[in-house]
Amino acid sequence: INKIGVLTSGGDAPGMNACIRAVVRTGIYYNIEMVGVMKGYQGLIDNEFIPLPSHAVSNIIQRGGTILKTARCMEFKTKEGREKAFRNLQAQGIDALIVIGGDGTFSGAEVFSREFNVPVIGIPGTIDNDLFGTDFTIGFDTANNSVIQAIDQIRDTAASHNRLFFVEVMGRDAGVIALWAGIAGGSEAILIPEKETAIESLISKLAEGAENQKSSSIVVVAEGEKSGGALKIAEEVKRRFDHYDTKVTVLGHLQRGGSPTCFDRVLASRMGYAAVKALLNNVEGKMIGMVNNRMHFTELSLAISRHSPFDEELAEIAAVLSI
Ligand code: F6P
Repeated sequence: INKIGVLTSGGDAPGMNACIRAVVRTGIYYNIEMVGVMKGYQGLIDNEFIPLPSHAVSNIIQRGGTILKTARCMEFKTKEGREKAFRNLQAQGIDALIVIGGDGTFSGAEVFSREFNVPVIGIPGTIDNDLFGTDFTIGFDTANNSVIQAIDQIRDTAASHNRLFFVEVMGRDAGVIALWAGIAGGSEAILIPEKETAIESLISKLAEGAENQKSSSIVVVAEGEKSGGALKIAEEVKRRFDHYDTKVTVLGHLQRGGSPTCFDRVLASRMGYAAVKALLNNVEGKMIGMVNNRMHFTELSLAISRHSPFDEELAEIAAVLSI
C-alpha cells in the first residue's frame, strides 16, 4: 500500500478531526502518501480529493466538526455512483480507504469494498454510540458532556421555579446518550426507543418525587422514543399531572459540536493509528473498535448487521437512583 484515502461520512462527531490527524500522521510516519476525500462518499463521486501532508492536520485535534466535511450521500447507494467513485479512486492511484462514520457509512464501505475489491477499514465516529463491535464511538463522550452541561443549567432554573422539564436529546434509533446523560444529570426518568414508554408509571414516579419534596424533575427523552417524542409526552403529562409547571427543551445539534473531550481525542488517536497499521498488515473489510480498553476488529458485514446490545444494568441503575 502506497497511498491511502481518508473520508468522514454521515453525521459529524466531535473527535473526527483528531482521528483524521491520527490517520494522516500514522500514514506519513510509515511513508504512505495520504489523501483526503471531501464530503464523504459524495467527494469520491465528484472527484474532490485533497493532499494531506503532515501540516494539513496541525492544530485540528481540539476542533469539533470535520475538516474534510461530511454528507449523507444517496448516489453512493447506487451501482452507477459507486462505479464513478471507483474510477476516481483508481485515477488518483489510491490503494485503500479509511472511512470514519456510523452504520450508514459502513454499509456503503462494505458493498464498495466487495464490489471493487478495495481494502477498507471503518472507524466508528458517531455521537450515538450504537455500533456493534465497540464499547465506545468517537464523539459520544463529548456529546454526553454537552448534554449534562445543558441539564445542569436547566436544573438550576427548574429547581428555582419548581418546574418539570422534558429534555430531548439526540438518538433516533438508540437511547444511549439519553441513558448516560440521564444518569449523569440525575434525571428523574429516561425515555428511550428501546423501551416502551408507560405514561401511567411515569406520572406516578413524578408524583412520588413531588411527595418526596423534589423541587424539580427532569425527564430525558431520546429523539427516537416511540410514543411521539418529548413535546407530545409533555402535553400528555401536563394534562394529567399539574403539580409542576412543565417545560420542554430540545437540545438538537448543539450536541454534535464542540471541542472533543480528552477521552474522545485519545480514542480517536488510538483508532486512527490502529486503522492504518491494520491496512499495512493486510487487514481489510473490518471496523476497528475498542472492547475492554483494547483495539478490536469486527467484520464490517457483522458491524452493520446489528446494533450494540442494550445495557440493561445501566437502565436499572438509572431507575434505582432516580427515586
Ligand atoms: O447519527 C447521529 C445523529 O446526530 C443522530 O443522533 C440524529 O438523529 C441524527 O444524526 C440527525 O441527523 P441530521 O444532522 O442529518 O439531522
